[in-house]
Amino acid sequence: MITLRMGKGRRVDIFRTKSVEQSMRDTEAPEHQLRKRLTAVDLTVFGIGVIVGTGIFVLTGQVAKELAGPAVALSFIVAAVVCGLAALCYAEFASTIPVAGSAYTFSFATLGEFPAWIIGWDLMLEMALASAVVAVGWSGYFSSLLNSMGLFLPSWMAGDDPVVNVPAVIIVLILTGVLIAGIKLSSRVNLIIVAIKLTVIMLVIVAGLFFINVANYSPFIPGSIPTEASSGLKAPLIQVLFGITPVAFGVLGIFSAAAIVFFAFIGFDIVATAAEETIKPQRDMPRGIIGSLVICTILYVAVSLVVVGMQKYTELSSSAPLADAFTSVGQHWAAALISVGAIAGLTTVVMILMLGQTRVLFAMCRDGLLPRKLAKVHPRTGTPAVLTAIVGLVAAVLAGLISLSALAELVNIGTLFAFVVVSAGVIILRRTRPDLHRAFRVPMVPVLPVLAVLACFYLMLNLPVETWLRFLIWMVVGGLLYFFYGYRHSTVAGDQPLSPKP
Ligand code: ALA
Repeated sequence: MITLRMGKGRRVDIFRTKSVEQSMRDTEAPEHQLRKRLTAVDLTVFGIGVIVGTGIFVLTGQVAKELAGPAVALSFIVAAVVCGLAALCYAEFASTIPVAGSAYTFSFATLGEFPAWIIGWDLMLEMALASAVVAVGWSGYFSSLLNSMGLFLPSWMAGDDPVVNVPAVIIVLILTGVLIAGIKLSSRVNLIIVAIKLTVIMLVIVAGLFFINVANYSPFIPGSIPTEASSGLKAPLIQVLFGITPVAFGVLGIFSAAAIVFFAFIGFDIVATAAEETIKPQRDMPRGIIGSLVICTILYVAVSLVVVGMQKYTELSSSAPLADAFTSVGQHWAAALISVGAIAGLTTVVMILMLGQTRVLFAMCRDGLLPRKLAKVHPRTGTPAVLTAIVGLVAAVLAGLISLSALAELVNIGTLFAFVVVSAGVIILRRTRPDLHRAFRVPMVPVLPVLAVLACFYLMLNLPVETWLRFLIWMVVGGLLYFFYGYRHSTVAGDQPLSPKP
C-alpha cells in the first residue's frame, strides 16, 4: 500500500479505491440522481453522433494525400482494430459499473483515487479541448457554405484568423442550452442531426460509386518515400527514441496514417459516460459502444474507398476532400450538400463531447475531488445544469479566442492514455473483484486487454515530442490540484479508514 505523509503528519492513501458498490450507491442519492431514459438505440445514435465528424470529413483526404495513398482505407481498419480492442474493455466496464464518469469511475474502482483523478483530468483534454477544436472546424464549414451562397462574414469574426470566432462561440452556446434543457431533448436533436449526416455519407458512397475510376486505385499502396525528417519537438517520439526516419506511403505509411485517423474514432468511449442515464446499462452499454464503432468503421472504409477511387490521391483536397472529389467529376451540386452534412455532423460531435465532459466532471464533483455543490442536478430538467453551463462557457471561450489546430494532437494523446488505463483496469478488476456480475466479458483476458494497451501505446509513440511535453505539463498541473484540493475534500476519505500505520 502506498501512502504519503501530508501536512501535520496526516497519512493519506492516494491509491485508496472506491468500491463498485459505493459508486453504485452514490448514484442513488436524490440530489445527485440523473434520469434513466436512454436505450441501446439512443446510445448507438449518440455514438455515431460523436464519432462521425472531422475525421472522415477532413482527415481522409489529408492522410491519403500525404501518408497512405488509396490504402487510407487500411489505415481506417488499423485504427478501428485498436479502438475495437479498447471498446471491448470499455463495454465490460460500462456493463459492470454503470455509473457516470466512464474511464474516471472505472479507474477509481481499480487503480485508486489518484489515478482516477489523473484520468478525469486527462479526459478534459479529450472532451473539452476537442469540443472547442471541432467548433472551430464547424465555423470553417459554416463560413464556406455561406460563401457558396454569396454571403461573406467579416474577417474579424470568421475565416482563417479571426479576432473572435463568432460562429464557433454561438454554436457552442446554443448547444449548451440544448444540453441544459434535458438529456432526452439532446438525444432527439441528436437523432435528427445524425440522420442528416448519415444520409449525406450514404449519398457520397452510393453516388460516388458511379464516378470511380479504377485506375485511381493503382498503386493501392504507393511505394514508401522518406519524408523530410521533422526535427526537434515536431518529431514523433518513436523517432526520437529509436532513431527511426519517418517514411510516407508504403506499409509504414499506413500505420502512421492510422495514428492520425484515430481521431475519427474518438467518441465511442463517450457513450460510456451516459451509463447512468441508461435504462438497462448491463445489456445496452456493450451494444451502444460496439455497435456505433462497427457502423462507423464500415462507413469510413466505404467512404475512403469511394473518395480515392473518384480522384487520384495526389489531387485530393486536404480541407474538404469529400466535396472536392465530387467537384472534380463535375458534380458541383454535391459539394454544397456535403457541406450541409459536415455542418450537421460536427454539430453533434461538439454537443456530445460537451455532454461527456459534464458527466465526467459530475462524477468527480460527486466524489468531492472537485467542489461537490457543482454536482447538483437541476430539479426540473434532471441535468447537471451548473456544470453544463461552466463547460459550455469554457469551450466557448476556447473556441472563440484560440486557434487550436496545433492542440488537436493533445486530444489524441489524452484519449489514448485513457484507453490504456481502462484496458489495464479490466485485468485488475478481474483479479480484485472476480465476484462482480459482468453482463459483458472481454474474451481472452488478459491477452486482448494487453494487446489493447500495446496498440494504444504504439499510436501514442507516433505523436510528436511537443505533444508529449504538453501532455506531461497538463498532468503535473492536475497532480498539484489533487494534492492541494482533491485529497482533502474526497468523500472516499470519509467513508474509508486511512491505511493503518505500518
Ligand atoms: N471522432 C470525432 C471526429 O472525427 C472526434 O470529429
